[in-house]
Amino acid sequence: MIKLNFDTKIDTRRKEEFLNEIEDDEMGGWLRLPEKISAVELEDIKRAALKIRSNSEFLVCIGIGGSYLGHRAIIEALRPQNGKKIIYAGNSLSKRELDYALEQVGDSDFSINVISKSGTTLEPAIAFKAFKEKLMQKYGEEEAYKRIYATTDASRGTLHDEAVTNGYKMFVVPDNIGGRYSVLTAVGLLPMAVAGINIDQLLEGAREAMGATVEPAFQYATMRYELDGRHYDTEIFASFEPSTMYFNEWLKQLFGESEGKNGRGILPDSVIYSTDLHSLGQYIQDGRRNLFETIIDYPTDEMNAKVVKAVQIAHAEGGIPVLTIGILSFDELGFGELVYFFEMACAFSAKMIGVNPFDQPGVEAYKNELKKLM
Ligand code: PA5
Repeated sequence: MIKLNFDTKIDTRRKEEFLNEIEDDEMGGWLRLPEKISAVELEDIKRAALKIRSNSEFLVCIGIGGSYLGHRAIIEALRPQNGKKIIYAGNSLSKRELDYALEQVGDSDFSINVISKSGTTLEPAIAFKAFKEKLMQKYGEEEAYKRIYATTDASRGTLHDEAVTNGYKMFVVPDNIGGRYSVLTAVGLLPMAVAGINIDQLLEGAREAMGATVEPAFQYATMRYELDGRHYDTEIFASFEPSTMYFNEWLKQLFGESEGKNGRGILPDSVIYSTDLHSLGQYIQDGRRNLFETIIDYPTDEMNAKVVKAVQIAHAEGGIPVLTIGILSFDELGFGELVYFFEMACAFSAKMIGVNPFDQPGVEAYKNELKKLM
C-alpha cells in the first residue's frame, strides 16, 4: 500500500478529466494493462522463461531506455536467487562495455532477448549483431535462431522483419504503450521471469494499485505542480536502499522523458542514502534552494529508519520541501504497486503542465541526428 506523508487539496473534476484523457489516448494502454494482459500471453512468457532457464546460464538482454530500465530496476532491487543471471547490453555505444558483456558470457550457454519497440534503435542493433554472431559461432545458425527472443512491434520495423524471416520467438510491445510505460508488458516480464521474479505477484501489485493509487498519485502530482510554481524546479528522488539505484534511474527516465518538453518540466535527479549524504548531501542541505526531495521510504531496518527520520528533519530545516512516499512491502507486490503509482503520477504531472506524457520528440531528434552521422 502507498502511503503519503503529505496531504494537499485536489481538484477532483480535473483528476477525472485527466483520467478520461489518458484512457482515450492512443498511448494510454498501460492504464488498464494489469487487468487486461491475457492469460495466454502470460503463459507464453512463462514457457519461454522456463526454456531459457533450462538451456542457458545467462540471458543477454539487449535494449535501451524504456526497453531496459524497468526490468533492470526490479531485478536489481529484489535480487531473486532462484533464476538466471541477466547480462545487459545495447544500452550505450561503448565498445568497451560491449566487449565486457561478451567476455562475461564467455563460453557459457546463453540466449538473447533483444528488445526494441521501433526495431531500429542503433545501440541495441549494434549489440544484437555482436551477440548474434557469438551465438551463431557457438551453436550454428539453426540452434542460434532458436535462442533469440525478439520483443518488438507487432507488424513493422527492422527487428520485426528479421524475426519473421529467421523464425525467432517473438513477443509484442503493444502499439498503445510507449517504452517507459512498458515494464509490465513482455518487455519487462520475460527478463524478469527468467531472473526469478514472480511476475504474477508483480501484476497483482499493479492491479491492486489501479484503483487504490489514483488519488495519491494525483495528490503527489498536484504537490509537484505547486512546488514547480514556487520555483522548486528540481526533484531529488531519495532512497535508502542501495539495490534500488536502478529504480531511481527508471524514475528519472519516466519523468524526464514525459515532462521535459516545450521548455517545461521538473528536472529529476536521484540519490541513495546514506551513501550520498557523504557527497551530494552537502549540496542538498545547503546549496541552491530550488530543490525538493521525494523520499521513497521502503520498509527497512531500525538503523536505516533512523537515517530516514534524520534526513527528513535536517532537510526540512535546511529549507527543502520533503515529500515521503511509503511502500509497505519490499517484494513483487510492492514494486508492482510502485510502478503503477509512478506511471499514474507522471501522466497526471505532465498533463498539469500541458505537455504530452507519452511522446519523446527530443529522443527522436537525437536518434535522427545519429542516423545521419552514421
Ligand atoms: O521511453 C521511450 O520511448 C524510449 O526511452 C525508448 O524506450 C528508447 O528510446 C528505446 O526505443 P526502442 O524500444 O524503440 O528501441
